[in-house]
Amino acid sequence: MTLKNDLFLRALKRQPVERTPVWMMRQAGRYLPEYRASRAKAGDFLSLCKNAELCCEVVMQPLDRFGLDAAILFSDILTIPDAMGLGLRFVEGEGPVFDRPVRDARAVEAIGVPDPETELRYVMDAVRVIRKGLGDTLPLIGFSGSPWTLATYMVEGAGGSDFHTIKRMAYDQPELLESLLAKLSAAASLYLEAQVAAGADALMIFDTWGGVLAPHDYVQFSLEPMARIVAHLKKVHPDIPVILFTKNGGQHLEIMADTGADALGLDWTTDLTSARARVGHRVALQGNLDPVLLLADPARIRAGVARVLEAYGKGGGHIFNLGHGILQQTPPEHAKAMIDAVRELSPAYHR
Ligand code: CP3
Repeated sequence: MTLKNDLFLRALKRQPVERTPVWMMRQAGRYLPEYRASRAKAGDFLSLCKNAELCCEVVMQPLDRFGLDAAILFSDILTIPDAMGLGLRFVEGEGPVFDRPVRDARAVEAIGVPDPETELRYVMDAVRVIRKGLGDTLPLIGFSGSPWTLATYMVEGAGGSDFHTIKRMAYDQPELLESLLAKLSAAASLYLEAQVAAGADALMIFDTWGGVLAPHDYVQFSLEPMARIVAHLKKVHPDIPVILFTKNGGQHLEIMADTGADALGLDWTTDLTSARARVGHRVALQGNLDPVLLLADPARIRAGVARVLEAYGKGGGHIFNLGHGILQQTPPEHAKAMIDAVRELSPAYHR
């Protein structure tokens, strides 16, 4: 399908664009009153994820409001561990919790690799309904968590911890953790492959917690399992661009580019100018405004956008984004100020 707006796909391939494409991680979320209304209709977040029509409704909300350059599937990275039978719940104010965390060899052995079109059919249905809803307007990003990031939630049993349990497993029983990561690599590979079959135009792997590992451990436990997913995707869907995002992964960009990914996501702690000098001839770069800046005055937001555009410099291969998900406290008009500034200021970098 030829898309009316293919700026994002061209930027991912480092082709020329008229202006820098922009989207926001978590662009459909609680900072939007219309999202909160849809979520209330569904009852709770997981019920929203399991209702394809409502998923499509919330995907469209930020697109209608701001005119972004990409849509992203509405779902969560924890759908895979949920389908593995761990019992996912979202506890108000505490985030995700698993009733049956994975702590020993028996629990790892009991885990199967979910079939996307049966155990995760609701996600594939959401992709199909969203793809149809978008028509030929915009590209749709499918996604998965990285095996390491999924394993942190599965082993710790909850988010936002110091990672002692999973790091201890990594140090004391590396083979056990590797067998869990192998199952997660296989599961994420099939899941992402199926999202493309259902209509996704690009894929992103969210490695939210790779940055908590020592460099050697990052390679073994986070990067290598992601590299296996990229290798699988390049075999089955060679033309679908893949974005890797390791939060706090700025020191690993060269080896991340070695995986064969098409683009790397950067958080705000990485300097975009030196990142481009290091890897910009091999991959596109996505990022990297600090999401906290969107709480500040719109004039400061505009100046922050100008700084990010200037840091990347002239030419294609840049996708404007936040360095992590948009915060719940963000006034929607401030997100609009950022997006408008990208539209106004970026054409000068493409002449
Ligand atoms: O970007 C998008 O708009 C697409 C949707 C998306 C969600 N989660 C929706 C969501 C994506 C890409 C994710 C990925 C995700 N989920 C990650 C990786 C990205 C990142 O932020 O680092 C992680 C670590 C998760 C796990 C997760 N899901 C957490 C930690 C939370 C927050 C829990 C809380 O209550 O604050 C979620 C819930 C979640 N996922 C929400 C949304 C819109 C909020 C749910 C709600 O409506 O209450």
